[in-house]
Amino acid sequence: MASGPVPPITLNRKVLLGVSGGIAAYKSALLVRELVKAGCEVQVVMTPSAHDFVTPLTLATLSKRPVLTDLFARDGSGQWNDHVHLARWADVMLVAPATANTLAKMANGLCDNLLIACYLSMPGGAGGPGSRVFVAPAMDLEMWKDTSTTANLERLRERGVRTIGPESGELASGLSGEGRMSEPADIVAALAQALVGNSRLRGRTVLISAGPTQEAIDPVRYIGNRSSGRMGFALAEEAALRGANVHLVAGPVALRTDRPGIHRTDVVSAAEMAEACRSLASACDAVIMSAAVADFRPKRSADSKIKKGGGVLDIELEPTEDIIASLSAQRPAGQVVVGFALETNNELAHAQDKLARKKLDLLVLNSLQDPGAGFGVDTNKVTLLAPGTDPAELPLMSKAEVARAILDRLETLFPDA
Ligand code: CTP
Repeated sequence: MASGPVPPITLNRKVLLGVSGGIAAYKSALLVRELVKAGCEVQVVMTPSAHDFVTPLTLATLSKRPVLTDLFARDGSGQWNDHVHLARWADVMLVAPATANTLAKMANGLCDNLLIACYLSMPGGAGGPGSRVFVAPAMDLEMWKDTSTTANLERLRERGVRTIGPESGELASGLSGEGRMSEPADIVAALAQALVGNSRLRGRTVLISAGPTQEAIDPVRYIGNRSSGRMGFALAEEAALRGANVHLVAGPVALRTDRPGIHRTDVVSAAEMAEACRSLASACDAVIMSAAVADFRPKRSADSKIKKGGGVLDIELEPTEDIIASLSAQRPAGQVVVGFALETNNELAHAQDKLARKKLDLLVLNSLQDPGAGFGVDTNKVTLLAPGTDPAELPLMSKAEVARAILDRLETLFPDA
């Protein structure tokens, strides 16, 4: 669980780090370290002149990925680095250091190296508001004060590119003044402030279960349900984006996630899900059980495939463990427990009963009566119930939007809220 008053900086982003050729490039090694410490995956793209200031080997070793510089391999192999793919992979592009030359190219649409090609390929990045591009300028005082640099930066800011620094201090020329690249830790803190903000999930650990469970009848057949896991995965993605360390326990689903900050455990049966959740829950600040756990399992699972025989087949079922009820009963102080309920009739009454019976802090009610809600669709319509408050009925939204609404509410339930 989160300890101490200052949560660690967690970004959980895929960062395309553009390193251009200035003396501040020597700080890039530390910057990669700080980004990795903040839970980021880092892909370094260097301009050719950046190689004069820091070796690609250093940055490749720290980022655990090959460093890319050329648009096209110069060995006649026909290999090229796909700037479009790189830009789509990234959540964020950070150009640090951003030299006067690179800023000028970015502002004026020149495209003679891989770094700039990536910048121009950022979806919504090269233009338009909501840009996901940040620059940390670094240059000498007169270059920084030059009207062309000011104009270039103004142009980039108008397109939504955000600047971090520079700071005042001693410069490589020996002069003192503005133009020094911000320190790596300060750059990462500024990114976190811009992207994660003051979410109460930042630095907290959250357990989220998702998808169905399968209860074996024989080696071929099982009892399952129609849950796709999409709601739970949307919650895991959103929690990680808010800076949480997420444990995702997933039943058999056809979903994948490559979001940094999500640690996934795959399970099949309710018993496996119970075991996985139990081993993780005590260290978590919040538990969100969005999984559709089977309530019953065959008392015996046949060792070999059951043959038709001709008669009626009776399968005796026994109850599974109510995972959320036992986690809630054994929860550490301050842990917030959130459950889901899918109902088909008397929805509110059943949901209120579940909220009280399982001693939950929040219950997310889905009704199969609502068009656009439930299994296998990208939208959901839910009502949030918490002890002592009126039910809050939310409109039909995408599962990503529902995830945001649930986590907004969850954030108000932490003891320090
Ligand atoms: N749940 C659980 N373990 C189970 C069954 C359900 O942890 N064995 C959790 C679900 O993940 C969900 C909540 O309990 O967060 C409610 O699930 P639901 O199936 O709606 O409730 P049940 O208690 O099974 O009640 P019923 O089936 O009678 O509606």
